[in-house]
Amino acid sequence: MDIAALSADALSRIAAAGDGEALEAVRVALLGKAGSISALLKTMGAMSPEERTARGPAIHGLRETVTAALTARKDALASAALEARLAGETVDLTLPAPETPRGSLHPVSQVMDELAEIFADMGFAVATGPEIEDDWHNFTALNMPESHPARAMHDTFYFEAAEDRQADAPQMLLRTHTSPVQIRTMLDVVSRHPGGAPLRIIAPGRVYRSDSDATHTPMFHQIEGLVIDRGIHLGHLKWTLETFLKAFFKRDDIVLRLRPSYFPFTEPSVEVDVGWTLNGARRALGGDGDAPGCGWMELLGSGMVNRKVIAFGGLDPGEWSGFAFGVGVDRLAMLKYAMDDLRAFFDGDARWLAHYAFSPLDVPTLSAGVGSRA
Ligand code: PHE
Repeated sequence: MDIAALSADALSRIAAAGDGEALEAVRVALLGKAGSISALLKTMGAMSPEERTARGPAIHGLRETVTAALTARKDALASAALEARLAGETVDLTLPAPETPRGSLHPVSQVMDELAEIFADMGFAVATGPEIEDDWHNFTALNMPESHPARAMHDTFYFEAAEDRQADAPQMLLRTHTSPVQIRTMLDVVSRHPGGAPLRIIAPGRVYRSDSDATHTPMFHQIEGLVIDRGIHLGHLKWTLETFLKAFFKRDDIVLRLRPSYFPFTEPSVEVDVGWTLNGARRALGGDGDAPGCGWMELLGSGMVNRKVIAFGGLDPGEWSGFAFGVGVDRLAMLKYAMDDLRAFFDGDARWLAHYAFSPLDVPTLSAGVGSRA
């Protein structure tokens, strides 16, 4: 092959090498130990001086041309690779940042905060008590002595007694209502302030009953209210509940109906119904339940604190009187935010939460307590 043909062939192979690896293979084939141009250079040793003078410059020229072409191609490939990287790694700072997933407030937490806020405006502090409670606070001190039939109204989860249990150790259970916080708060206030009352608290929290269907779950939430002062009567209870429900449901036309009822820890006891009217196909709270097409919805239990309970709380029932109430927080949330199935509250389904949960940035968080009581 003549030099010109060799040169043309070498240059086209160099131009065709698509990356550094292919280019190196071409270099080895041309200029490596066994390369074709190296072989040509070796033939010069056997040439006569005339021949060498005649052909030498062309052969050296070929080597220089090829070497220069290899270097140029190598540089071109390197800068093309850099261009490609720069194009691929471009960051457009004008694009909106991707959204960061954010947690949300469960409707129960939201409603507890709303309740704490409404009652704080009426001068109520937030009190708490343990979910693992003893029999005395949950029942006995609330005027349900052992074997009292009202204990059967609560399907209680009892803890099994340990084998080495002391004879006088209390029977432990999961509290069936928030009412034991009434007792704990009175005893606590009495121990810290001689004379005890007055006091005004709400106690939101979890309660447990062995019960499960569309409107009952084994764990649910209640909020307890307790006011102890001098000269408290049913009128105070009714005004407080009315004011709270109007603020909570954001309606001025909330109408209450008080019915005589029975709870061992209140006397008299009052079941509170709220009037509803139809809003499309849905019952909406508000309006007179006795109007045609309307009705009453049972909402909560309440009453004047039983004298025996005041005494169990360490206060003199001759001096102090009070009212108490207990409401289902989950039920309040369902009514306010139009949710149908209580069980969905506790399934932890992310789609349900995405629909019903609340932004953590919009609300105060008072329900965990405001530090001081009464
Ligand atoms: N503790 C009662 C219940 O769980 C509710 C209640 C509380 C009733 C306070 C009267 C007074 O059913």
